[in-house]
Amino acid sequence: MSDFTHRSVIITGGATLIGAAVAEAFVVAGATVTVLDIDGARGSALAARLGERVHFIETDITDDDQLESAVGECQARFGGVDCLINLACSYLDEGQASSRADWLKALDINIVSAVMAARAVRPLMCKRGGGAIVNFSSISAQVAQTGRWLYPASKAAIKHLTRSMALDYAGDGIRVNAVSPGWTWSRVIDEVSAGNREKADRVAADFHMLGRLGNPQEVAAVVLFLCSDQASFVTGADYAVDGGYSALGPEQREPAIAKLAG
Ligand SMILES: NC(=O)c1ccc[n+]([C@@H]2O[C@H](COP(=O)([O-])OP(=O)(O)OC[C@H]3O[C@@H](n4cnc5c(N)ncnc54)[C@H](O)[C@@H]3O)[C@@H](O)[C@H]2O)c1
Repeated sequence: MSDFTHRSVIITGGATLIGAAVAEAFVVAGATVTVLDIDGARGSALAARLGERVHFIETDITDDDQLESAVGECQARFGGVDCLINLACSYLDEGQASSRADWLKALDINIVSAVMAARAVRPLMCKRGGGAIVNFSSISAQVAQTGRWLYPASKAAIKHLTRSMALDYAGDGIRVNAVSPGWTWSRVIDEVSAGNREKADRVAADFHMLGRLGNPQEVAAVVLFLCSDQASFVTGADYAVDGGYSALGPEQREPAIAKLAG
């Protein structure tokens, strides 16, 4: 496994299941982790569980002053920043009925704040001779999903933003990549399925080649790889962590030709 000893990682939106798994993976690999989230209760609980190498700062990432102050606090406490994980998101989405305010709010959280976080950490990464940024995109970036306009558009935008950022930060030794998870066992899926993992796996089976949901730890493992020295020649890339969702066509997992004979 990669050694992240003496490396400092900032994770936005680290208070939920996927964020917590990413934080835990970095802690196990030896890093110090600063979690920025508006969810004070879950963020504090995570820091208490993972111990003194995790520091939680209640932060609204759409507020530049709060963001700058949190990055400064991370610098003061852990001596710098080596990795940034832009994981926080909003699922606010009323499809075509969404108001201008909704659009601006969703894009503010899902894209603009990721840019502002990257701008805030860049000088600190430069001081260390480089760093790594991982942006969270999604399978939703690639396909139409009925009733959803804001979230997929924001996730498509962050995928392309990853390429722009990778190009312009390459000279600083900062690598920038994205991950695109498929359905992952997370707060939303837990809530919608009333905690029924078996049912969630069953529903996901039709459109994930591996026939189930992903686990937060499986997403975290790819994030860790992208930040590690093993990925030293990887930048501007988008890694699918989707159990084959994006490689599966409309014929899904059933033999379509056989239907002609039926
Ligand atoms: N759950 C899935 O199946 C799935 C699939 C593909 C991609 N993703 C991506 O994975 C990431 C995590 O998804 P999740 O389902 O765990 O999301 P979630 O809604 O459970 O967590 C998002 C976190 O972001 C935080 N947040 C929201 N607004 C914020 C703000 N203004 N300032 C600071 N923090 C803020 C929330 O408090 C929350 O802790 C997201 O980027 C999402 O797009 C998730």
